[in-house]
Amino acid sequence: MKIFAYGIREDEQPSLKKWQAAHPDVEVAFTEYTLTADSARLAEGSNGVVTLQTSPYTREALEVLHQLGIKYISIRNVGFDNFDFKDLNDLDFTLTNVPVYSPNAIAEHAVILMGRLLRRVPEFDQKMDNGDFTWSPTIGKEYREQTVGVVGTGHIGRVAIQILQGFGAKVIAYDVYHNPDIEKQGLYVDSLEELYKQSDIITLHVPLFDSNKYMINDDAIAQMKDGVYIINCARGELIDTDALIKGLDSGKIGGAGLDVLDDENSVFGKVWSSVDNIPNEKIRNLAKRLNVIITPHSAFYTETAIHNMITTSFDSNKALIEGKKPQNIVDTRK
Ligand code: NAD
Ligand code: COI
Repeated sequence: MKIFAYGIREDEQPSLKKWQAAHPDVEVAFTEYTLTADSARLAEGSNGVVTLQTSPYTREALEVLHQLGIKYISIRNVGFDNFDFKDLNDLDFTLTNVPVYSPNAIAEHAVILMGRLLRRVPEFDQKMDNGDFTWSPTIGKEYREQTVGVVGTGHIGRVAIQILQGFGAKVIAYDVYHNPDIEKQGLYVDSLEELYKQSDIITLHVPLFDSNKYMINDDAIAQMKDGVYIINCARGELIDTDALIKGLDSGKIGGAGLDVLDDENSVFGKVWSSVDNIPNEKIRNLAKRLNVIITPHSAFYTETAIHNMITTSFDSNKALIEGKKPQNIVDTRK
């Protein structure tokens, strides 16, 4: 049995070596390149493919894998919004993801972004850089005075709720599916409108679908409290960046913590040396603001997460090749 892996980084190699050592019956080959129509040929002779990227998986790349007789694709991450399910179904692929490699990694990151906004850390950092050791005017806010609206109470949203409750915040939540634990605590509101109306901070933890693309738009922002903070550690396309910039300009939005951005692949993963060199005008606009904190889709990036992403994705791919049905098969027929 042979598995070919795409987009393997140096930080993943120790976990990959451990997995290989534990599975001497599996031949593993890999490349640092992501899966494209060109790199797809590298998988020739393999039974399955393990991959991770934030750019789209193109039909052309999948067609090459199909021609090579490969049927099994295992992504090392949670979100599969960069696949077109029609392509996967037409070409008869089975897809697995890693649904719970570490919800804590992302939830902690979201709450840290909130905390940095509440305590005005970027402004304090700038003052420190200028040798300004005074207090005013960078007065902060406390979590216990905040109502935090959590959109999406899946694996990540629920850990975020626990952490926020530890800080003493009042949490409300919205989800199309009601989790029994969150329901028991009486945290759900009936609509997004209600969540927008009540929240001082809104944090997004839902997958991206065609139906919720740009859910945070002019209309949604108009329903929010003045000075609201918006946190997005889910997918960039959930927020209409033009509407966000407008809201920040008017002061309707008090700040934003963004681990993901619309069109992030034009900027993330590269070194621009200065914010002035960022080639995407909207992202450059956001990056220049002291009340906007951007991180490069790194919420997931912890040692624990990386280890679990490698182990589960390779386990799943091996299981598929052996004709088993691991629990983390993505339902692409929905
Ligand atoms: P999950 O599937 O466990 O939970 C998602 C929740 O969203 C579910 O409870 C679902 O019912 C709910 N939901 C779906 N559509 C909704 C809608 N329109 N309105 C309200 N609720 C809706 O997923 P998760 O593990 O919590 O991850 C959430 C998302 O976080 C992923 O889909 C992915 O896009 C993103 N993510 C980001 C990073 C990162 O590094 N920034 C890492 C992992 C995951
Ligand atoms: C995910 O797991 O869905 C992420 O967003 C992490 C990223 C490495 C793709």
